[in-house]
Amino acid sequence: MKVTRIFRFVVVVALVLGAVACGSAGTPAPSGSTGGAPFGQASCAPNCKFSDMTMCFPQLGAESDWRTADTASFRDEAQQDGFKLVFSDAQQHQENQISAIRACIQQGVSVIALPPVVEDGWDAVLTEAHNAGIPVIIVDRSVSADPSLYVSHIGSDMALEGKRAAAEFNKKFPNGAKILELSGTTGSGAAVGRAAGFRADLNANIQIIDSQTGNFTRAEALPVMQAFLQRYKFGTDFQGIFIHNDDMGLGAIEALKAAGIKPGDLFIVSVDGTRGGFQAMVDGWFQADVECNPLLGPQVAQMALDIMNGKPVDANVLTNETVYYPDNAAELLPTRKY
Ligand code: AHR
Repeated sequence: MKVTRIFRFVVVVALVLGAVACGSAGTPAPSGSTGGAPFGQASCAPNCKFSDMTMCFPQLGAESDWRTADTASFRDEAQQDGFKLVFSDAQQHQENQISAIRACIQQGVSVIALPPVVEDGWDAVLTEAHNAGIPVIIVDRSVSADPSLYVSHIGSDMALEGKRAAAEFNKKFPNGAKILELSGTTGSGAAVGRAAGFRADLNANIQIIDSQTGNFTRAEALPVMQAFLQRYKFGTDFQGIFIHNDDMGLGAIEALKAAGIKPGDLFIVSVDGTRGGFQAMVDGWFQADVECNPLLGPQVAQMALDIMNGKPVDANVLTNETVYYPDNAAELLPTRKY
């Protein structure tokens, strides 16, 4: 009798200790360990607060003004909401992003917000995060990994951006033209999507005579444009350029200026809508700038908190974007946040 009572006491104490040990606030539940709780739900659910959250943000680099604004958006949001942001800069190298994610898994962060530099090669590290019960939100660019390895993607519709750029060329050149493409980082969701959307909607009488990457940077775009100008005669061989981001556009403008080309001599459509892009429209270099919004911090933070609280979230959240034109660029320029 006495032994049975002691046994019962030991079992109750063990159960209580077990519950306390499993229930540290902010720790996500591994997949399947909570008897059907949504993946990534934290033990503080349904009352998790931002102060319970540690977000890992292995930023892909600092290659453009867009990226600088994106980083600032996450940093500002973390400060405002009061969550911890584990930030790193991978300098456009996938292996650096993978190492940063592994360090975050070791640290037991609540959530990983990953802006992938390229689309392929994420399966192994995403599986590691999944096995550790850490939810991943893919931010900005896309990945080719199995969607079961991450909870959601928040970012732009890159193919739509390419289609919007194609519509500008179709309008400008109803009788056809020859054009160049200055593409973004090879294998990145942004470059792949924009190139595919562009080609899908470009009229058959508009020919892309050459396409080279400038890796989304001003510095790398400059020599690419110089090489284009040595190979092709502007006006005769080509009449326009599709440029995958504003930073590369600004690098290209330097090369065009040095070659004596004037604003308006070529039809140039860029992507992003940064202040630099707006200035290029004001100065007459860009004839349209397709928006790509980098201010993703607030949306990603709210989704991360919802995941921790076990709330259902959408698998793909696309940013609402538009196209900007020179006619009101001067008026809008002072209102631009990036
Ligand atoms: O993935 C978004 C792209 O990456 C932006 O167009 C570009 O500026 C950035 O580097």
